[in-house]
Amino acid sequence: MKKKDLLFSAIQPTGGITIGHYLGIFKLWNLLQNKYICLYCIANLHSLSILNKNNLINVNIFDLVSLVLSFNIDPHKCIIFLQSDIVEHLKLYWILNCYTYIGELNRMTQFKEKSNKKINNNLSLFSYPVLMASDILLYDSKYVCIGYDQLQHLELVRVISKRFNKIYNCNFFVYPKHIISKRFSRIMSLLNVKKKMSKSDNNTNNVIFLLDNIDLIKYKINNCVTDSDNPPKIIFDINNKPGISNLLNILSGIKNVSIKSLEEYFYKSNYKKFKDILSKELCNFIKLLQKKFNFYRKDKDLIKNILLNGKNRIKNIAKKKILNLNKILNLTI
Ligand code: TRP
Repeated sequence: MKKKDLLFSAIQPTGGITIGHYLGIFKLWNLLQNKYICLYCIANLHSLSILNKNNLINVNIFDLVSLVLSFNIDPHKCIIFLQSDIVEHLKLYWILNCYTYIGELNRMTQFKEKSNKKINNNLSLFSYPVLMASDILLYDSKYVCIGYDQLQHLELVRVISKRFNKIYNCNFFVYPKHIISKRFSRIMSLLNVKKKMSKSDNNTNNVIFLLDNIDLIKYKINNCVTDSDNPPKIIFDINNKPGISNLLNILSGIKNVSIKSLEEYFYKSNYKKFKDILSKELCNFIKLLQKKFNFYRKDKDLIKNILLNGKNRIKNIAKKKILNLNKILNLTI
C-alpha cells in the first residue's frame, strides 16, 4: 500500500471561531484526515504577534481543541499539536529568516493591512510568514490546507524553500502544494457582503460565531442582507446577488446539500421563508455543535493528553530535520 502523504494545517487560538472557519477550513480538516497524514497545529506562537494578553491564555487553546473535536476531527486519525510544544519551529524560523528578503515580506497584503492599523506594529507581524514557512517545511509537508487569505504566504514559503535548495544544491525542503476549499473559502459578512466574514470585525452582527448564543444567531440571520429583487429570487449568482448567494452557500455547507437542490427547493419562496429555514437549520447545527463542545471542554485532561500525544508523535521528526539542517549549515542548534 502506498504510504500516505503528509499534510499540514494550522489555526490560531485567538478566540472567536466563525461559521466561515468551519466551512472553509474545518470541513476540509475533517475530510482530509482520512486521506493524508494530517498535522493540525494550534498556532499559538503566531497569535503572539498580535499583542493582546487575552491571546495567550489557555482558555483559547482549550476552546479551540474542543471545537476541533466537535467537528469530528479525530485525534486517532490525525495529529493535533500545540506549536509552542515543538521548539524546532523556532530554530528553523531563525534560519529561514536568513533566506527571506525584506522586499518579499513588504509585499504581503496581510502585513500591509495589519501594519496600516498601526496599533502594534512589531517585527513578528512582519516576519509572520517565515514562521509559517518553518511550520510547513519542518515536517516536509507535501500539502498545506489554507484559506485564500493565506495563499500569498504559501507562495512565499515556496520561494524560500526553492531558494535554500538552490543555494545548497540539495532537495532539503519540499515544495508544498496548497489545498483550498473552492466553495467555502469566501464566506462573506452578513451585512456587508463585499467583505469577508472575519472574527475581528468591529460589527459582530456581520459574523456568526460558533459559540454565539442561539438567540443571537437568530437575530443576526433575521437582520442580514439579502437583496431587493421583486419578485424575490433565491438563486446562486455571486455577482448580481451576493447576499443570497452567500446565505445559500452557508446553508448548503451545513446541510451538505448542493446549491442546485436548494434553488429547486426554494423556487418561488420569499426571502422571509428562506431566512426562517436557514435560521432553523443553522441553529440546530450550532446547538448540536455546542453540545459536543461543552462535553469536550469540561475534560481538560483529555485535551492536555491529546496535545501531549501530538507532541510525542512528531517531536522526533522535527529534531531529525534540524539535525540534518545542522549538517548542511555546519551548526549545532
Ligand atoms: N497564519 C495562518 C492563519 O492565520 C495559520 C497558520 C500558521 C498556518 N502556520 C501555518 C496555516 C502553516 C497553514 C500552514 O490562518
